[in-house]
Amino acid sequence: MTTVAAPTVVHTRAPGKINVFLAVGDLQDDGYHELATAYQAVSLYEDVRARHADDFTVRVTAAPGIDVDSVPTDDRNLALRAARLLAASTGHRGGVDLTIEKTVPVAGGMGGGSADAAAALLACDTLWGTNVGRDELLRLCAELGADVPFAFTGGTAIGTGRGDELSAALAKGQFQWVLALPDVGLSTPAVYRELDEHRRRHAGEIRSVRQPVVEAGVLQALRAGDAAFLAECLHNDLQAPALHLQPALAEVLELGEGAGALAGIVSGSGPTVAFLAADLDAALELQIALSAARLQVVRATGPVHGARVVAD
Ligand code: C5P
Repeated sequence: MTTVAAPTVVHTRAPGKINVFLAVGDLQDDGYHELATAYQAVSLYEDVRARHADDFTVRVTAAPGIDVDSVPTDDRNLALRAARLLAASTGHRGGVDLTIEKTVPVAGGMGGGSADAAAALLACDTLWGTNVGRDELLRLCAELGADVPFAFTGGTAIGTGRGDELSAALAKGQFQWVLALPDVGLSTPAVYRELDEHRRRHAGEIRSVRQPVVEAGVLQALRAGDAAFLAECLHNDLQAPALHLQPALAEVLELGEGAGALAGIVSGSGPTVAFLAADLDAALELQIALSAARLQVVRATGPVHGARVVAD
């Protein structure tokens, strides 16, 4: 009989995301907005390593160019909250020492913190042998944040509710993205608030959008793997409020579109601007052009897989 030794360290990885379509409905009583979004997971990953410990601790490291100073390492850290939530819900006694290696821009609207949480849940579940199953992990993900279930499932999906009720969407091929990371800050709640205020100010002209939906064209473009068609369908209701709060983002959008991008879009609540390129060559040219304008730029492809255990 062979026995499998309990792991001493578990390494997991979860992806960042781009909302290729994001329609925001009205503010609900719980402080969240009803959303209809199309998510695509992209090849920027958060790596989490979990080791047995008596207490709950986290260390954060990053790829060159990513500043992790603003990432909390106390109980506000989403990965740590994920670990504590799993321990509380399973009655697991003992803690975990987490190390996060970030590649997703911090506070950029690409779901890096959500990916940390999804990867940490999977890492702890594997390390502790709690084996709660996929449905329960997804339920815990939704408790941690609106984008966390998608970081867990990855691929391409439609999100409704707060963005946490997922249905898989068909997608073909690979899309080429170039991401510009402007050196400005935007807070997600502030961007949603700006949208609400704009809608209140123009209540007479704008009809209520109680039931947002993902437009059919987006689904067709994803299904066909047609980058030019997807470029025409990119949409984000949070873009206008993000540009209002940070007008410099409009210049970044113009720069990328003038340098050969099929289209650009503010990613989530920003400030990352995602440009869709026709193919790899166009993406490389765009990356050079944006870098020459002294922007921090990374390239990514999508869709990619969700949270996984990585064999070291
Ligand atoms: O769920 P998460 O912590 O990522 O959300 C951050 C903030 O974004 C919320 O506190 C809320 O202000 C805003 N939000 C929202 N409606 C959503 C998702 C997020 O208003 N569906």
